[in-house]
Amino acid sequence: MMDKYINKVIQGDCLEVMKNIPNNSVDITFADPPFNLNKKYKGYKDNKKFHTYLDWCRQWIYEMVRITKPTGSIFVHNIPKWLTHYACFLNEIAYFKHWIAWDAPTAPMGKSLQPSHYGILFFVKDPKKSKFYEVRYPHKRCRKCGYLLKNYGGKKYGLHPFGPLVSDVWTDIHRIKHNKYRDEHPCQLPIHLLERIILMSTDEDDIVLDPFVGTGTTVIAAKRLGRRFIGIDIDEMYVDITKNKLSKELSNSKIGDSWVSFYLDEIVTIRDGDWEKLAQYFFIPENVKDIDFRKIKLDKQTRLFK
Ligand SMILES: C[S@@+](CC[C@H](N)C(=O)[O-])C[C@H]1O[C@@H](n2cnc3c(N)ncnc32)[C@H](O)[C@@H]1O
Repeated sequence: MMDKYINKVIQGDCLEVMKNIPNNSVDITFADPPFNLNKKYKGYKDNKKFHTYLDWCRQWIYEMVRITKPTGSIFVHNIPKWLTHYACFLNEIAYFKHWIAWDAPTAPMGKSLQPSHYGILFFVKDPKKSKFYEVRYPHKRCRKCGYLLKNYGGKKYGLHPFGPLVSDVWTDIHRIKHNKYRDEHPCQLPIHLLERIILMSTDEDDIVLDPFVGTGTTVIAAKRLGRRFIGIDIDEMYVDITKNKLSKELSNSKIGDSWVSFYLDEIVTIRDGDWEKLAQYFFIPENVKDIDFRKIKLDKQTRLFK
């Protein structure tokens, strides 16, 4: 039944497509819907009336929860204005885990504080069964000299050699600004944002579904990390771009046998549980005081850090 959807990007209305997917059949669902901000999409009008938009959102959120396995998680990305409503819908049918604040400047909204974060709601279907893996990101370092930027109040002793555990505020992943890195799409997400979500909530071979896949960020992240995927978008052109990009991707975002997330040849996320295996690939100074070790660089061919 699921075979016809697995590792496919489907052109269609996500509500129609999801209705045909059985209950409890995918490991995580991630949605980055149109924000109803009158953005210029090709095949979709982004200016629904307030209640029409929310009624529609309630329907696809319901479908996302229905098809997610009891071990699985549901993620929804949007501006806080809409997330307050989504949280109410989700609280009726799933369990709150986190409101992740993704620190990224957003468009001014008129007379208001300057919006500076997007939210990612993180809900689980069954809190007793849900999968979750702690993840780490690298210490912030001086770009030139490689030394740690933060002094940590002189307490560098107890620091983890790789970097801190990821909290619910994400400041180290930036929106795609440069046209060189974006497709013809008004609001493409960075692949390593999705990789972090996938690493913390799924295992190898798990199924990741995105009902608004756009130009493929979620499915590319899933493929790179050895997960299976299902992508849906109403727009034929975005679906074609995604399929084309996917055909060039490999499932090789690994060091040794640990899946990790890279951005421009630097690691941005690892699983805490993988550190013991990964440590052999890093130069760790004997004296922890020397944690100011110079930034290690990835050798593209050997995938080793030197
Ligand atoms: C915010 S964008 C998603 C961008 C995506 N996360 C990426 O990184 O490329 C929303 C997408 O939803 C699609 N869309 C709008 N209505 C839809 C519907 N009813 N079913 C499926 N896709 C839809 C649009 O074509 C657009 O690509």
